[in-house]
Amino acid sequence: MRLLVCDNYDEMSRRAAETLADRVTQKPDCVLGLATGSTPLGAYERLVTMVREGRLDLSRVTTVNLDEYRGLGEESDRSYVSFMRTHLFDGAGIPKEHTHFPDGTDPDSDHACRVYEEVLASVGRQDLQLLGLGRNGHIGFNEPGDAFIPGVHLVDLASSTIEANKRFFASEAEVPRQAYTMGMRAILAAKEILLIASGVDKADAVKAAFRGPVTPQVPASVLQLHPDVTVVVDQEAYSKCM
Ligand code: GLP
Repeated sequence: MRLLVCDNYDEMSRRAAETLADRVTQKPDCVLGLATGSTPLGAYERLVTMVREGRLDLSRVTTVNLDEYRGLGEESDRSYVSFMRTHLFDGAGIPKEHTHFPDGTDPDSDHACRVYEEVLASVGRQDLQLLGLGRNGHIGFNEPGDAFIPGVHLVDLASSTIEANKRFFASEAEVPRQAYTMGMRAILAAKEILLIASGVDKADAVKAAFRGPVTPQVPASVLQLHPDVTVVVDQEAYSKCM
């Protein structure tokens, strides 16, 4: 695992965008695993700018997103599918039919999980999986627990996750209590993983995940077992590792 410490959020975002752009330039029809949350926004903005300036073509990539809230779909501007369209896909010219999410609106949760597992299998391994990091060490919505869960699954969100994500909703009461997430098998199947984390809020999680033991209590610690992981953090997120 490589750990790269940047001065600040902007530098972290620039490095993440450059890595993504480089992999797409090398393989224009690559499979990108993508993440939501505030952390990747700076990188996505840079990718959109590169596309607008004609320096990058993302029109042939296939994307698989990590997760989606149960009950939300493209008709909701709080869903992750809407988030990705707003912040990346529309501006970067990634066709809708190249993008994939768990179906948060499927009333049958077992079916939703099965279908997304099949989608992941048909798309194939991600050439690059981008990850953020939850304050409690989650990746995607793989929350701390007694075991790493391999497959796509429905998650009861941790109260700290609901608290952290309420800023995207009108109130905490509106944050869905459940979500679908890619499991650890598909995350670890990625050929290359790039995890980004910024801010002092993430410092405990960065330390626990990358300086502590591999444990399902800190889901991101499983990345220590992957052969090609780059962790890009800013000084604040790294501050407890020193
Ligand atoms: C969310 C997402 C994760 C994301 C994490 C951190 O709940 N499900 O994929 O990485 O929490 O979010 P943020 O980047 O906003 O801190």
